[in-house]
Amino acid sequence: MALVAPSILSADFGRLHDDIVDVLDRGAHWVHVDVMDGRFVPNITIGPVVVAAAARAAKANGHNALVDVHLMIVEPDRYLQDFRDAGAEMLTVHAEACTHLHRTIQATKAMGAKAGVSLNPHTHESCLDYVLDDLDMVLVMTVNPGFGGQSLVESALRKSEKIRAEIERRGLKTLIEVDGGVKADNAKRFTDAGAHVLVSGSGVFGAKDRTAAIRALAAS
Ligand code: DX5
Ligand code: ZN
Repeated sequence: MALVAPSILSADFGRLHDDIVDVLDRGAHWVHVDVMDGRFVPNITIGPVVVAAAARAAKANGHNALVDVHLMIVEPDRYLQDFRDAGAEMLTVHAEACTHLHRTIQATKAMGAKAGVSLNPHTHESCLDYVLDDLDMVLVMTVNPGFGGQSLVESALRKSEKIRAEIERRGLKTLIEVDGGVKADNAKRFTDAGAHVLVSGSGVFGAKDRTAAIRALAAS
């Protein structure tokens, strides 16, 4: 069983509210929001104003979905408070974008948010050694961040397995989220590699039958 976090990057931004409520009505658990700055990654997406709109949708229609904000931006410390004020409940930064990662994690928690750290496909899990105990979540990028609809980088599964083993060894409650190339037909590979949370953009919003896709992901 996995938690399903549709990435709104593949939603229709002309009807964002309805698209988010639709996937929650169909059984999705979290709302994953991809913030890109055109510097850390080549693409530019959205800022706090749209996160606030997504956060309203996450709590609409009787839902209380966690607002999971993935910051693919340089110097994320400068914007943590803005995204927290916009309704982010999980704030995930990239290890590669943080000079003082420990400080960033503590600042996130001091704002009352859950703290996540993401690793690009090439980044070794050992960079989390001294912060893992402080983390609510590790986001293992299973594609190079920047765009939806890419295919899985296989070596990232091995990394997810190793991080899960270390979480178990330490007796932590830290979640592992995987992001990129996750679809109903390959989701079991990610949960077998230790993932608790499956992000899927094109695999949910682009699915012919969204209900079936969400059910299959959740059952993986
Ligand atoms: C990529 C983003 C992902 C993306 C996933 O940089 O972090 O969340 O939307 O898209 P799919 O599921 O289509 O690979
Ligand atoms: Zn993401």
